[in-house]
Amino acid sequence: KNWMVEQRYRRLEDISHTQITEMMEKRSLDNGYPSYHIAPAFGLLNDPNGLCYFNSEHHIFYQWTPVGPVHGMKYWYHLSTKDFIHFTDHGTAIHPDQDYDSHGVYSGGAIVENDKALLFFTGNKRDENWKRIPTQCYATMNTAGEIEKKGIIIENDHYTEHFRDPKVWKQGDDYYMVVGAQTQDLKGAMILYHSQDLSTWDHKGPIKTTHNDFGYMWECPDFFELDGKAVMLFSPQGVSSSDPYDFKNVFSVTYLVGDRVNFSSMELEGEQSIRQPDYGFDFYAPQTYVDDKGRRILYAWVGLPEIDTPSVKYEWAGMLSLPRELRIENGFMVQKALEELEALRGEAIEFEDVLQLPSNSFYLTLYVDTMNFSIELGNSVGDKIELKGTEAEFTLDRSQMSEIYAEEFGLTRKAPRLSLTQQIEVYVDQSVIEIFINGGKHTMTSRFFIDDLSYLKVSTSLKPTYYPMKSLSGFN
Ligand code: FRU
Repeated sequence: KNWMVEQRYRRLEDISHTQITEMMEKRSLDNGYPSYHIAPAFGLLNDPNGLCYFNSEHHIFYQWTPVGPVHGMKYWYHLSTKDFIHFTDHGTAIHPDQDYDSHGVYSGGAIVENDKALLFFTGNKRDENWKRIPTQCYATMNTAGEIEKKGIIIENDHYTEHFRDPKVWKQGDDYYMVVGAQTQDLKGAMILYHSQDLSTWDHKGPIKTTHNDFGYMWECPDFFELDGKAVMLFSPQGVSSSDPYDFKNVFSVTYLVGDRVNFSSMELEGEQSIRQPDYGFDFYAPQTYVDDKGRRILYAWVGLPEIDTPSVKYEWAGMLSLPRELRIENGFMVQKALEELEALRGEAIEFEDVLQLPSNSFYLTLYVDTMNFSIELGNSVGDKIELKGTEAEFTLDRSQMSEIYAEEFGLTRKAPRLSLTQQIEVYVDQSVIEIFINGGKHTMTSRFFIDDLSYLKVSTSLKPTYYPMKSLSGFN
């Protein structure tokens, strides 16, 4: 389907009940629709937004285009949960209903202040000539869930039209914000602002790192301190690499770990290396927050800009990753699925080499200690995906799926193998696979499309254990 601009920018109230029912019916026919991942009832989900722990619950918002599985008019959609299993569906939260967000309420983060959550977002406006005019804005949400827009707090005085995705944190009495931007010389950057009252924001400029020439735009910046280190996490555009592992997707996710950011010199201090947290096909725009237990939790979009997945036929696109707890270890950002998800596991099945799948939503844990191994997921007519290991690397192979897409970016992804002996954890949910390797120092997050997926096959001596996973409840 070719979408005209006017169709993409249709608003929720312009879509009829019949259209919505038709989209939901289509979606319900899709065997690839996940059951323990957050996905939209219809339309397109992209970035996680406004993550926070507020009023005794975790709040998760996401970018949502209601009109169909396409990038268009963006809203913030809102879910909340106490346990990551039972959710409350709050529907759309922030609507594009002002002049300054006439073309979408774009991504941003949240902080909690007294009895309110403050939701920062980018007002995406386009003028008559389709020129983009972005501003940083915010809204408040009270404990009853009522949202009130407070308007623009930062105009774009320094950057090209690529200036978006505010992430705010508080240090003492001071507020800090990072924004993703493109500088006038067309480089991606993470821009720091400072405020004492939330209404006046000083422009401090780009945070300087040892990697200042890195792509043409950085989307969805995040900055946080964890385990005594300072982490800059962002989604750069326009980076490629000839090495076998890095930057193979249309856009990639990157992080830098330093000792701290010096707010007067504006430098990230300490030794820095640039790394990718994920080596799969579909991982973008991750954001983090801290919960009541002090955990730093990450959600990402399992999807990428400019890539259409086969789910589009069923009138939906995009899902969120599982929530993952972060740690910093030896300069690596280590990810682990939140322990709450263990409650979704059904009865364990230990098997030898082949398992006919009781359910296509499952968790698999195994141990590798030989140079070569393989894990295969497939159907009776030979369609499959495979994770292969050699002494030096892991390869995820999507070349034999029932439905192939995004071939121009290649059909395999590779990751370095940091140790011969290790546990591998795999979360499969119908058409998504999240693989945790190298003790969580890397993940491989991907969509995959196999009709009538039926078996799981692993090479010998991996001691695999399979657990069916129950569904999340409370939405869709
Ligand atoms: C990243 C992104 C953000 C923007 C949002 C719009 O996927 O392009 O930079 O705020 O999506 O939906």
